[in-house]
Amino acid sequence: MISPTLSIPGNPPSDLWVADLDPGWLETLAQEHDRVAVLADEDVHRLHGSCLGSLQERATHLVPPGEACKSFDQLQAALEFCATNGLSRGSLLITLGGGATSDLGGLAAALFKRGLTVAHIPTTLVGQVDAAIGGKTAIDMRAGKNLVGAFHMPRAVFADVRLLRTLPPVELQAGLGEVVKCGLLGGKEAFAQLERDAADLVAGDPDALRRAVLLGAGLKVEIVKEDPREQGRRKLLNLGHTFAHAIETCAGHGTVPHGIAVAVGLQMALRASRAKKILTDQALPERLEKLLRALGLPSNLDDLQLQKTPTTGDLWRAMAHDKKGAVGKPEFILLKDLGAAEWGVPLDQALVGELWNL
Ligand SMILES: NC(=O)c1ccc[n+]([C@@H]2O[C@H](COP(=O)([O-])OP(=O)(O)OC[C@H]3O[C@@H](n4cnc5c(N)ncnc54)[C@H](O)[C@@H]3O)[C@@H](O)[C@H]2O)c1
Repeated sequence: MISPTLSIPGNPPSDLWVADLDPGWLETLAQEHDRVAVLADEDVHRLHGSCLGSLQERATHLVPPGEACKSFDQLQAALEFCATNGLSRGSLLITLGGGATSDLGGLAAALFKRGLTVAHIPTTLVGQVDAAIGGKTAIDMRAGKNLVGAFHMPRAVFADVRLLRTLPPVELQAGLGEVVKCGLLGGKEAFAQLERDAADLVAGDPDALRRAVLLGAGLKVEIVKEDPREQGRRKLLNLGHTFAHAIETCAGHGTVPHGIAVAVGLQMALRASRAKKILTDQALPERLEKLLRALGLPSNLDDLQLQKTPTTGDLWRAMAHDKKGAVGKPEFILLKDLGAAEWGVPLDQALVGELWNL
């Protein structure tokens, strides 16, 4: 097996390959475990099951596409699958699919016999830059998304941008929203790279996508190494997310794809940073807007063309219940400059109201 692109030290280490996936690598990893099983998004398995090579013959559990798999019923079915196939703590579960699949498979792996090894083959841009990396796993409850979960670091993540060829355009766009967040947090060169690559990214150019995955995944690996349990710096990865979650809640979950809500949330976070006078580069919100437009992403609420535009009060109430902050006290991440941000900043409702109405 060639060396991983990036690693998070630990026992075992979490290794990330950003490369064309060679099924031989999976076989090598499989040989280190007593049994191997696969948990895959059923649609993705139909399209890309062959990337598993000989592991296609192993026990395979197919789950519904996307968010529908992040339920208690699906978690139970995944755990029953592990039991039926005699997996032990020395076994390996490989997930194939987007962030929803790696969230469910990662949680099942964390829980079954108190933890078996998991490896992810993310097939969405969100999965490759974010969801499959760093060990956060979760399912949803009626009360909200991602409320039940565990930290369980994957042994390996294989990010092959060729798998993104079949991604529906809206899923690619959602991934680009998260990539822009990484550009803002990554620093001047990271942001400039996205500005240069914007047209190629929209066209799905594999070289530009690989550079974007390296940028996003590299940032996440660096932050998770320092703060694996989100006690501090890892919170920065939620830049724009308090606004985005409020938009998603008010629009009705599933109406606005998360990464697209994040694009609008990023612009709001930058405007809030300027209004609070902590942003050093006053022109950054306009530069961000240009980049978002070049990537075909929205930058304000109007662009989302929601059936019913939420009021400031609706959005504020949704933010007050965001699980990242204390109840009733939403917290925000604000940008000081490209590559420099601070977390845990309170904002008042009046300012948030002004930002929505821009
Ligand atoms: N754990 C984390 O750190 C973390 C981070 C970000 C997001 N997430 C979670 O990830 C989930 C979103 O994941 P996502 O955006 O990757 O999408 P997803 O897993 O929800 O999949 C979206 C759709 O794309 C399809 N799809 C996936 N790969 C495809 C491919 N290559 N070709 C064609 N279709 C494909 C799926 O079948 C599905 O219909 C959310 O539940 C979110 O909470 C987790």
